[in-house]
Amino acid sequence: MSNRAPAESPARGSASAAIADNRQKLLEATMRRHQYRPDALIEVLHKAQELYGYLSPQLLASIAHSLHLPPSRVYGVATFYHFFSLAPQGEHTCTVCLGTACYVKGALEILSALEAETGLKAGHTSPDGRLSLLTARCLGACGIAPAVVLDGVVIGHADAETLRARLHALLAEAPVAP
Ligand code: FES
Repeated sequence: MSNRAPAESPARGSASAAIADNRQKLLEATMRRHQYRPDALIEVLHKAQELYGYLSPQLLASIAHSLHLPPSRVYGVATFYHFFSLAPQGEHTCTVCLGTACYVKGALEILSALEAETGLKAGHTSPDGRLSLLTARCLGACGIAPAVVLDGVVIGHADAETLRARLHALLAEAPVAP
């Protein structure tokens, strides 16, 4: 019997390389559409995150280079806005708003309850990659404070007990296959 790798392995390798190339091409096309203008930074960061899932240091450096911006400026913008992520996120994400309106309505108590439930500190992802517990400065939903975003869905008038139960149920589900 031959010990050679199955014939499909290189093809799979080329397929994933092609996808990676395609992401670079799409990001390049977005920057070209904006004529590599520095003031297109936020749109470009949005596109990069949509394509790659998060903004790695290498990606930020390459965007800074393409838009002729200092890397510190690009990093500063990427860290200022809560919707940008600098690290891979978990299968599920739970973002607790700690902006003023939510804070005065008990957001900190909600966050503490979720930290206790999950064993995670805010800003971290569980070692098994199933959950990221995040915070935001304001989600633009102050009228329904305290607000929490669970897997992209805004939950207004959030309360710790309901959220704990929802997180518990989510994590009890089978993980999504890679
Ligand atoms: S302060 Fe929380 S949504 Fe605005």
